[in-house]
Amino acid sequence: MKNPIVAPSILSADFADMQTGLGRIRDSGADWIHMDVMDGHFVPPISFGAKMVSDVRKRTALPLDVHLMVEEPDKMIPDFAAAGADIITFHAEACIHMHRTIQSIHSLGKAAGISVVPSTPVSAIAEILPFVDLVLVMTVNPGYGGQELLEFCLRKVEALQALRDSLKLGFRISIDGGVSEAALSSIAEARPDVLVIGSAFFEAEDPATFVGTVRDAFGARLVC
Ligand code: DX5
Ligand code: ZN
Repeated sequence: MKNPIVAPSILSADFADMQTGLGRIRDSGADWIHMDVMDGHFVPPISFGAKMVSDVRKRTALPLDVHLMVEEPDKMIPDFAAAGADIITFHAEACIHMHRTIQSIHSLGKAAGISVVPSTPVSAIAEILPFVDLVLVMTVNPGYGGQELLEFCLRKVEALQALRDSLKLGFRISIDGGVSEAALSSIAEARPDVLVIGSAFFEAEDPATFVGTVRDAFGARLVC
């Protein structure tokens, strides 16, 4: 069984010392960097824009997993593509013409992700699953790091795996929000492909040990 992709979210880093945050990610052996873009409308806070992505792009070769928590993703996607994002994920709740938005991300040469907040069912994105590269299941209400994982959202991971198998698709399933050591055993049971981790990663004493613990939680299931 594959290791999960570990994607630290820089939302929990010190924005005035991003160099240290990026060093922590590099030293941890994590796989991707998750970047939360918040516009103050789709979610209350404002985080950062495309300039942060282009500045981070200059300092790392890791894939940049950009999560747009914004009301008008279509207007912003070209800027994030130009800034060096590898994966651009937008919210189903913010988009009427999801298929067209996915096409536009692909036309810019980027992988396309769709995200759903906890109250949105998998059925809301069923028709566009054949076209996406990633489904990001929010496991907290978006907008803030450091919240507790909403266990009921993990059932969506299982529903998506069943659809992926029956439709013979290849998208990855990511979970975002509340991924902590305390929640690892139920997360490992659901087996998402990607784990976005903000506060637990940045608060861990040793980031490499923390990433090892996360990977072990998934590996441990194999010997059970
Ligand atoms: C929340 C963001 C998350 C956030 C996760 O709206 O989308 O990516 O950084 O933070 P933790 O892991 O602390 O819940
Ligand atoms: Zn996120």
